[in-house]
Amino acid sequence: MPLIEWNASMATGHMEIDAQHTVLLAILNRLHEAIQAGEGEAITAPVIRELIEYTRYHFRSEEALMVHIPAEAALAHKSNHARLLQVVREFEAQCDRGDIEPQELLDFLKDWLLVHITGTDKHLASLLGKERQPA
Ligand SMILES: [Fe+2]
Ligand SMILES: [Fe+2]
Repeated sequence: MPLIEWNASMATGHMEIDAQHTVLLAILNRLHEAIQAGEGEAITAPVIRELIEYTRYHFRSEEALMVHIPAEAALAHKSNHARLLQVVREFEAQCDRGDIEPQELLDFLKDWLLVHITGTDKHLASLLGKERQPA
């Protein structure tokens, strides 16, 4: 059973952002399934790295869209991303040393992403939506 299923409450209404969020959830679910199946590091480590890399890519994409929103909102959102990436770097270092606890990363990222998507990212999408309205 997947860890999290995409549902309407997670939709921000911005096509590109939503598409990337579904990819992120799919990678989270893949990691969950590998852990459930009792797969070892040879399987989980590449999925962990993919998850981390995709998170970075996704943040860069959102941040590129932020040129269209007020600077203050962009700054707050970017610093939120930066804090997460700091934690992610620690997980990455654990992965390099071979002492990562995959379940810990999974639980942390799942909780963080759900809160971030339904709060900060929805706010971003609504500001981008306003940007598209004619003045
Ligand atoms: Fe975000
Ligand atoms: Fe996002």
